[in-house]
Amino acid sequence: MVKVILKDIPDLNKLDVYVKNGGFSALKKCISEMSPDDVIEEVKKSNLRGRGGACFPTGLKWSFMPKGDEKVKYLACNGDESEPGSFKDREIFEKNPYQFIEGALIACYAMGAKAAYVYIRGEYWKWINIMNDAIKECYDKGYIGKNVMGTKFSVDMYMYKGAGAYICGEESAMMNSLEGKRGYPRIKPPFPAQKGLWGQPTTINNIETLACVPEIINNGAEWFASIGNPKHPGTLLYGVSGHVNKPGVYELPSGTPLMTIINDYAGGVLDGKKIKMVIPGGTSMPPLTPEECENINMDNESLKEIGSAIGTGGIIVMNEDADLLQVLTRITHFYYHESCGQCTPCREGCGWMLRVLERIEAGMGRKSDLDLLVSVAKNIEGNTICALGEAAAWPVKFTINKFYKDFAKHIPEHETDLPVMNKVHALRQSPQYEVLRNDKEQEIVEEFIGKSREEVKEKRSAM
Ligand SMILES: Cc1cc2nc3c(=O)[nH]c(=O)nc-3n(C[C@H](O)[C@H](O)[C@H](O)COP(=O)(O)O)c2cc1C
Ligand code: SF4
Repeated sequence: MVKVILKDIPDLNKLDVYVKNGGFSALKKCISEMSPDDVIEEVKKSNLRGRGGACFPTGLKWSFMPKGDEKVKYLACNGDESEPGSFKDREIFEKNPYQFIEGALIACYAMGAKAAYVYIRGEYWKWINIMNDAIKECYDKGYIGKNVMGTKFSVDMYMYKGAGAYICGEESAMMNSLEGKRGYPRIKPPFPAQKGLWGQPTTINNIETLACVPEIINNGAEWFASIGNPKHPGTLLYGVSGHVNKPGVYELPSGTPLMTIINDYAGGVLDGKKIKMVIPGGTSMPPLTPEECENINMDNESLKEIGSAIGTGGIIVMNEDADLLQVLTRITHFYYHESCGQCTPCREGCGWMLRVLERIEAGMGRKSDLDLLVSVAKNIEGNTICALGEAAAWPVKFTINKFYKDFAKHIPEHETDLPVMNKVHALRQSPQYEVLRNDKEQEIVEEFIGKSREEVKEKRSAM
């Protein structure tokens, strides 16, 4: 089985072993035989797409950076890895740190970046220590610093420890955090390639994305493009968790069938039970039903066709015993807690969804609550500065729509009679609503049409 990153070579995390196995030959080739534009073209041809969640073509992203030396440019390497269900980048830090470092240095050469910042979440202290040591060793051996490997190419690499906020994985919040500011996402445009770190052109790439680059240079773009689904080629580090016998990170060609990953690699579903739901790429991605799981290939294009996405490749398996209300409440609590609070739909909407879910969990759900949840989610998505809005809204919208019965069973048969100011709203909450909705609603609305504010007030108080 082809491996691009997590190769079966003992002690590959040691610099001498890495070098003995061809390590840093790609960097050497780039800086001594290829122009920066040649490197970008090769990465473009390989069709490498970002592994941080959005699947943006990497070569194209690099080509957005301004050419020439007039401006100081930067690369930011995103190792925040806070999406629940994702734990693949830490595997690279632990098992093949130098391949990531080499990839980042090649990216700096291709884009003319003066320095690379490696941003790792604060809770990853073990991997932060590993990377600190690895970077220091590369400086000592002349792979980073002035005149790399005796050439004219000079570059620096710095480690930066985050404080453990999910939002700092969003690229513009990460740049603010790196600048020592609060991790607030920035409004785009300007895009990072125009105005990024300290106002300078910057590219942000995920750790796995960068770790693929040396192998693309060593083996050629065609080789990489031929692995897995050609529209989303290469291997992917699938992180499998939840109700499986062997949770872990499995490197397999993109487009590997989901059930092959679960049954042949992750040891099958725990206790031999049936699947109830699978989240294919970290908790923000739309979940899959058991029927959808049967025939789906795990690459972004295939998942897009059934209304989901590969995200970070973090596969979360839930068996038939899982209580989806509990699952969704927990997920929503996470996004509510992690919202930075800048935009009203995200800040207020996440809390609103959580309160409604908790109300249902407490046995006080109303018949209208599930529609209300979907409606709040729809009003968050597309109306925020950053994609945390979608990350919070999608699980609610798609889980309820796809698994409606699992939620409806938690709503009590009887309705609590609540004092409601607005009669149309009150009607929507009543069991008779379905029967009355058309004529009664129409009647009430007509009562208000053409009336002054005072008249409406008067009518309302009489209701
Ligand atoms: C709320 C939020 C959190 C994110 N967290 C991460 C993360 O932890 N790691 C990551 O690589 N990308 C994360 N991203 C995506 C980044 O903004 C960015 O698209 C990515 O790092 C680009 O790298 P790539 O092109 O190599 O995929 C996040 C995005 C959002 C909206
Ligand atoms: S969507 Fe949420 S996390 Fe993103 S900027 Fe707005 S409030 Fe902050």
